[in-house]
Parts: sequence; C-alpha cells; structure tokens
Amino acid sequence: MSTVLTRIEDWNAVAASLGRDCVLGLVPTMGSLHEGHGALLEEARRRCSVVVASIFVNPIQFDQRSDYDRYARTLEDDVAFCKARGVDYVFEPSEREMYPERQRTFVEVEELSQHLCGAHRPGHFRGVATVVLKLFHIFQPHFALFGEKDYQQLSIVKRLVRDLNLRLEVVGVATVRESDGLAMSSRNRRLSSRERLLAPRLHQALMAARELVAGGETCPAAIRERALAILAGVPEIRPEYFDLVDAEGLQPVRVVDAPVRAAAAVWIGNTRLIDNVLCVPPAITKPQGK
Ligand code: PAJ
Repeated sequence: MSTVLTRIEDWNAVAASLGRDCVLGLVPTMGSLHEGHGALLEEARRRCSVVVASIFVNPIQFDQRSDYDRYARTLEDDVAFCKARGVDYVFEPSEREMYPERQRTFVEVEELSQHLCGAHRPGHFRGVATVVLKLFHIFQPHFALFGEKDYQQLSIVKRLVRDLNLRLEVVGVATVRESDGLAMSSRNRRLSSRERLLAPRLHQALMAARELVAGGETCPAAIRERALAILAGVPEIRPEYFDLVDAEGLQPVRVVDAPVRAAAAVWIGNTRLIDNVLCVPPAITKPQGK
C-alpha cells in the first residue's frame, strides 16, 4: 500500500511516528514513471525500511516554459507503478506547496554544471540542485537514489551533499535500456514511430566511442568525429553536444588516458534525448624499471 501525500505537514506527521531504527530512502522523480525509475525504487526497497518516491515536475529547472507545459503527467499510473514496487509513500506536492512564495534562494554547484547539458540549458542544474536540496531537508533521508542516465545530475547531487555536509548517501543506479539500447526516458513517449527507430543511434554513437577508447584511441577529437559520423546523414537527428569528460569533475579531457564518461545530447525532431557511457582505456603497461 502506498500512501499519497500532498502536503509537507502530512509527511511531518508520518515522520514523527517513524521509529528510530527506520532507514529512509528517497527517490526524487518528475513522474511519467518507467522501468528506469523502477530500478531506483527497487534499489531503495532493498536498502531501506521506508521508501518515499516524490513526483514533482519542478518548474524552476525548465529553461523553456513549453517544455514544462508539454511534460507528461500521468499521476494515476504513477501511483499504481509505485504501489506495485512496494513504495510506502508517494509525495506529490502542488507547485504552491513547494514554492509558496517566489523562490529567492538557489543552490549552484560550480564547474560541474559548466559543460554538457549545463552549457545548453541555462539555470537547469541550479533548479535541480535547489529542488533536490529542498526535498532532502523535507524528508531527511538516509539514502537518495539517482540514475546514471543523468550522469551530470548525479555528479552534481553527490557534490552538493559533500560540499554542504548533508548526512545522507547518494546512490547511483545503472541506466535501464530498451532492448535496442535506447535509454528509457519519459521523453521517449514523444517520439514518432520513425523517430523511435532512429533514437538508438545515440547509444550506438556512445558505444562506438567506448570501443575506440577500449582499443587504445586517446584523441578526443578523433573519437568524437567517428561517433558523430553515426549520427550524421539523418536529417531528423541534430546533435547538441558529444563530449568526453573526466568522471569526477566533468571537465572535457585533452587525452583519454584514464576512464572517462562519453556523454551526448541530440534532438530528434522536437525531442531532446541524452545518454552517456563509461569508456575505459586498455590497461597501461609500464615498461619495467621506469
Ligand atoms: P526524472 O527525469 O523523472 O528522473 C528521476 C530519476 O530517475 C533520476 O535520478 C534519473 O536519472 C532516473 N532515471 C531516469 N531514466 C532512467 C533510466 N533509463 N535508467 C536509470 N535511471 C533513470 O531527473 C529528474 O526527474 C529531476 O531532475 C529530479 C532529480 C526529480 C529533480 O527535479
């Protein structure tokens, strides 16, 4: 049984009744739930005695109002989805509940927000970090689960927790994919049938980068060029960025001599898709005696 809560004070009443040995897990989402979210909920269920899923389409992280308006809202299905995965509480606040006044306090995680999506969606990660910090304060979870699918977001939230000395552990969960490699996303529902057929190319391009790195290629420009060739020649696909960044600081690398994250965003028609994979160079064997 999942209990749906819409008010922070309703949660406060629940929190007061939880025993001291309760281990609380929080899975923040914007709803329109799919198996990617399901993996987070299941991991939370494994680690925690009480699981909360929040469903809130956060207006302050959308750089375009039209994107916010178009975001799929499927609350009834989402609550059923949560119930089926043993979620204890679904928090589904109104915009007024989360932002009773115009928000005047924002959190910015510098540098990590600079490249990749941050370069193309001004204010996005400020909005994400701010709402996530609000949720952390409201729920005070022991664990918060985030997907590797949004690798930059995951890194930013981890850093936020470290920098602000928050007492919780951020857990990253591997990307859940369709059988053709396409990363599951709420935005996939917007793709036409032709666009859906083309969408796995994003993952193919990233996998090409992964193979090149595994084969010893160290030049980011060469890797990028080969990967982008997979996306070229299809008028429906418009790459936004394709970068190789270091896994911690998310800064573009000059040479791939350590594990990196290949991350990309493409537009397919009117839909923006993102994905990323880990790329690991072959073991560097040092000559004896040097
Ligand atoms: P949303 O896009 O709903 O995603 C919620 C969580 O599910 C994020 O941590 C995201 O990385 C994870 N997720 C999405 N697709 C996934 C997949 N295919 N495999 C694994 N995990 C996946 O991300 C947000 O919402 C918002 O920015 C939020 C953090 C809730 C703040 O508003």
